[in-house]
Amino acid sequence: MSVKLNIYKERRERLIKSMNQGVAILKGAPEQIRSNDTGYPYRQDSDFFYLTGYAEIGAACIIDPNNQERPFTLFVLPQDPKKEVWTGWRLSFKETIEQYGCDQALDVSEFEERSLEAIKTASRVYTNLNHDKEHQYKLLDQLNSVRSSVQRTGGGPEGLESVGSIVHNMRLYKDAHEVDLMQQAADISAQAHVLAMKSCKPGMYEYQLQSILESHFVHEGGSGPAYTSIVGGGDNATVLHYVKNRDKLTDGDLVLIDAAAEYEMYAADITRTFPVNGKFSDPQKALYEVVLNAQKAVIEASKPGTTLQELHDLDLRLLVEGMVGIGLLKGTPEEIIEQNSYEEYFMHKTGHWLGLDVHDLGNYMVDNKPRVLEPGMVYTVEPGIYVNSRSKAPVRFRGIGVRIEDNILITKDGNINLTVDAPKEVAEIETLMIES
Ligand code: GLY
Ligand code: MN
Ligand code: MN
Repeated sequence: MSVKLNIYKERRERLIKSMNQGVAILKGAPEQIRSNDTGYPYRQDSDFFYLTGYAEIGAACIIDPNNQERPFTLFVLPQDPKKEVWTGWRLSFKETIEQYGCDQALDVSEFEERSLEAIKTASRVYTNLNHDKEHQYKLLDQLNSVRSSVQRTGGGPEGLESVGSIVHNMRLYKDAHEVDLMQQAADISAQAHVLAMKSCKPGMYEYQLQSILESHFVHEGGSGPAYTSIVGGGDNATVLHYVKNRDKLTDGDLVLIDAAAEYEMYAADITRTFPVNGKFSDPQKALYEVVLNAQKAVIEASKPGTTLQELHDLDLRLLVEGMVGIGLLKGTPEEIIEQNSYEEYFMHKTGHWLGLDVHDLGNYMVDNKPRVLEPGMVYTVEPGIYVNSRSKAPVRFRGIGVRIEDNILITKDGNINLTVDAPKEVAEIETLMIES
């Protein structure tokens, strides 16, 4: 078995150990309709992919330790020349077994019947609780019918459980293969930010920067953006999820770009903020340096044993001290934090897990305490300050939004910044932009 197939096999074995004689009955992501009869580009369910490596449409699988001969069954769309002419060639069942390391490959039309059989011998039933409600209702129906037939003899599964309760915590620890893919997603994304900085000129449109970034993602083998790209000039940078990207970039404004590639199913998540004309004004620079200082300090403090909550507290304290220092907030940092009066300008968390999903899964709390960071975990560090044009802040700061976001891998001794190649020092950005 190839190294890559072993990765998925080993994940399924770990899942089986945690399921306690349970069976996992999973459906791949359904197609999402965009409009009328056209769909969004297909993207496999992340948990399904994590356990199978299978990214094609129309699949399902059963991971059943009670089936000792064939614990892993992959259900796929069968070969059908008339359909394949429209949507692409499909593997034969034999080829599916060879390429995905399953114990058997069956036509997906057999999935329901097999799932009922598997439920009959299971003590617990796990599934992926994603947006496919139809699959969940069917499984519940099957579960109920099995329960009613065994109620005189006892035993049998009590209810439907989330495979995510096991798999999401496994996904928190990235193995070498995943780190390699995430580094590639990060590299492509960092290069794209450099290209955007070099190309930016007053009078360009936000969507033109977006096209430069996204073209690079695809040019370098990414599947496209890992999430909807945000390119916001001036006041638009103060809207956290600004995705219209339709406005003209104005001389004298900053532009905030939160955009990154998905590569082989893994996401990067980078934000950079820079002057449209290549030179920070004094108030822009003052505010930018507050964010940058906090961001660098949080990265510096990122190591095993600390928690995202501690990092957020550090970030918040530095941002508030900085905002007081430049005259954006009044009062003592303690009072401001106590009264949450910073929230007008900083209203989100410092970071989130990153991996197959941009907001990757895995609990942030364990036993009611913030999870302690361990080697292999990857998260974002993304402080920001947003002063919109309607604010009562000193006029010089109005219409300035700054966020700086990097992707951090926790290692044995500290951390690696996967997105270090995207420039963020004031001098570095100005030099790069002036020279181009
Ligand atoms: N790009 C989404 C986020 O930064 O969380
Ligand atoms: Mn982001
Ligand atoms: Mn993020």
